[in-house]
Amino acid sequence: MGEVDPAFVQDQQHRPKLSIIQAEGIPQIDLTPILQHELPNPSTIDTLVKEIGSASREWGFFQVINHGVPLSLRQKLEEASRKFFAQSLEDKKKVGRDENNPTGYYDTEHTKNVRDWKEVFNFLSKDPTFVPLTSDEDDDRVIQWSNPSPQYPPQLRDIIEEYIEEMEKLAYKLLELIALSLGVEAKRFEEFFKDQTSLIRFNHYPPCPYPHLALGVGRHKDPGVLTILAQDDVGGLEVKRKTDQEWVLVKPIPNAYIINVGDIIQVWSNDAYESVEHRVTVNSEKERFSIPFFFFPAHDTEVKPLEELINEENPSRYKPYNWGKFLVNRKSSNFQKKNVENIQI
Ligand code: SIN
Ligand code: FE2
Repeated sequence: MGEVDPAFVQDQQHRPKLSIIQAEGIPQIDLTPILQHELPNPSTIDTLVKEIGSASREWGFFQVINHGVPLSLRQKLEEASRKFFAQSLEDKKKVGRDENNPTGYYDTEHTKNVRDWKEVFNFLSKDPTFVPLTSDEDDDRVIQWSNPSPQYPPQLRDIIEEYIEEMEKLAYKLLELIALSLGVEAKRFEEFFKDQTSLIRFNHYPPCPYPHLALGVGRHKDPGVLTILAQDDVGGLEVKRKTDQEWVLVKPIPNAYIINVGDIIQVWSNDAYESVEHRVTVNSEKERFSIPFFFFPAHDTEVKPLEELINEENPSRYKPYNWGKFLVNRKSSNFQKKNVENIQI
């Protein structure tokens, strides 16, 4: 015990600080005004749209309360995630991730070539999901991703599927608000989600004997449209504050969701909203659990800045790219790592 495995050790400049800055500044947004409405009514949600717009511009992150996701369902899912990870490694590996699929269990994720102190279980929102093959010669061929069928805990699949429905509902509402805040139609992004590739993830960060050297997840940006994260009360998620590049802790708020803008919104908005870097610290006493939902568009989506937002003074800053190909090129072992810096002109 206590021996340091060099695979987990961060370079000096990326190690977590011992004194943490609490990110009181991360906006907390009350979604009550849209709880009752299928279609937001622009006159009653004007303030909300402004709040979402400035949070996305200034932080790239915010927390939402009164979001409409039933607490009992979230608790059921969190309990199922704890039970899943409490199994033996051998049992968890029965639904282990294979080479060609991003789904299932694994405990050897690396971010920027340093191993993350965590274990993970991934599940696709739509099963199966087709994505184009990597190479250009094989453009017209597709590969199929599918979900594992975990036997334990019982009903895990049903609970996940019920929860995913709630995540999608919330994601669509948030996306409508984001669209309005950018000055485009509420339903502007709907066409990109006909056959979405969204993914839900269970994260488990066990206690770590050297939390000053390792990270639960190294610094990264999320590649998708939006991430909707449920974190427990332990805390550990840190966001890079845009004003001074300091790492600040995202305070756990019971039953709230943490929302962040991903790389695709950065491209759609032509940099009006940036996908912000974040990371996860670990601690020596407590284990931590989190459940992000990654809202991803259809595999054949061509990602590029919205035409309405570009003009002579504000020309497009990105080359169009195909989402499905981008996903496959990341490779399963590399899942969740590249970001738009790679495709920026
Ligand atoms: C992540 O950003 O990949 C994980 C976030 C968290 O566990 O808080
Ligand atoms: Fe992330």
